[in-house]
Amino acid sequence: MAVAVPERRTSLHGQWSSRFAFILAVSGSAIGLGNIWKFPYIAGVNGGGAFVLVYLLCVFMVGLPIMMAEILIGRRGRRNPIATMALLGEEEGGSRHWGLIGVAGVITGFLILSYYSVIAGWALAYIFESASGAFVEVDSAGVDEIFSGLSGSWIATGFWHTLFMVMTTVVVSRGVERGLERAVRVLMPALVVLLLMLLGYSIIAGDFAQGLRFMFEPKFSELTRAGALAALGHAFFTLSVGMGAVMAYGAYLPAGASIARTSVAVICADTGIAIVAGLVIFPIVFANGLDPAAGPGLIFQTLPLAFGQMPGGIIVAVLFFLLLTFAAWTSAISLMEPAVAWLIETAKLRRTSAAGLVGVTTWVLGFLSVGSFNVLANFRLFGRTLFDNLDFLTSNIMLPLGGLAIVFFAGWVMSRNSSADELDPAAGPGYRAWCFAARYIAPVAVVLIFLNAVGLF
Ligand code: TRP
Repeated sequence: MAVAVPERRTSLHGQWSSRFAFILAVSGSAIGLGNIWKFPYIAGVNGGGAFVLVYLLCVFMVGLPIMMAEILIGRRGRRNPIATMALLGEEEGGSRHWGLIGVAGVITGFLILSYYSVIAGWALAYIFESASGAFVEVDSAGVDEIFSGLSGSWIATGFWHTLFMVMTTVVVSRGVERGLERAVRVLMPALVVLLLMLLGYSIIAGDFAQGLRFMFEPKFSELTRAGALAALGHAFFTLSVGMGAVMAYGAYLPAGASIARTSVAVICADTGIAIVAGLVIFPIVFANGLDPAAGPGLIFQTLPLAFGQMPGGIIVAVLFFLLLTFAAWTSAISLMEPAVAWLIETAKLRRTSAAGLVGVTTWVLGFLSVGSFNVLANFRLFGRTLFDNLDFLTSNIMLPLGGLAIVFFAGWVMSRNSSADELDPAAGPGYRAWCFAARYIAPVAVVLIFLNAVGLF
């Protein structure tokens, strides 16, 4: 039997100053390397159009209901994701074992951060590379040389990874509040402006028609089973859902704020940035005879070509990689926060010690990904490098499974009274649509794509 729901809880750590602040924080988490680095590269590897279509469907049909589920659970529990899932699990489902979903999420975040930091480190390195003028008038062979100089050296890549981990740990250890919220407020709009400038460049100087065709012409013959799974996984990754990061942020959301409208705003911002990034990168790829399926190095090999040719390119390049680093930073923080919040609450560590512990462990683990581009490049498991395995395991398996568990809990285990209490059915027909999506569409879609990926139909 469900236990009677207690008085409305309050968060142990205060709350966001407004709904807008929350939108910024979740957008800061969602918008990151996933949009600008990962989306173009996996769309390229998976053949473009049909992949993009499946990705968009997954974002709106699966990602949206799951994001709403995470926020509503987080706001109801008002604790770190592990404690929240255990608490609500007991209230709604009669078992604290639901907390294991939170545990899996914390582990997922930790694994993602370990390789995320390596790529973010490259972005950081490119700020300095651009500032030195290395990209001025460079051709694609020259860009290639600069990129392999960085990725091919474990010392160089490891150095920037270290620096990025230190930056992330410092912010998390101080508490996420003011500095970051304020910075994101200025920097995210700046990122949008710069991306639009680059879009202008790619329309003028790139092969825009071919780029458009590549991204939006769905050639279903090119969509593999693995590609559909990758599209699902990326929908989770780019929205930061499936591991409890959004749940942790939801714990600080003021009671009256509309969860539906908030989630829609975040999802539109995230998707818009990914699409613009694709429309910047692919026309440059095609105009320069590069390979859209180049893999993780794609943006580090295409964008510098554009920067090298445009007037004021040095400044634009420095700004761009600075903002990319910032976008990655606000995301990395959200990957670390659940583990740190949990350590503080359960192990009673001070915030600095908790952040330090998580930071050092992630940093060490990150060297598996650092090495994947150089000394360990030939070490393959299941035919993939360690970096690719970590990415595959977390994005394509752990996040969808975590999201499935979360949305199952919100849709089937929680009472309608509780979910309606958070989602406010009076606000319109949205509540019933959410119920349907949470109970049927999202779980069925995840299961079907999984079954399809292992070849069962
Ligand atoms: N969404 C971020 C990006 O697109 C990465 C990220 C941050 C993330 N927090 C997350 C991914 C939580 C999965 C889960 O770059």
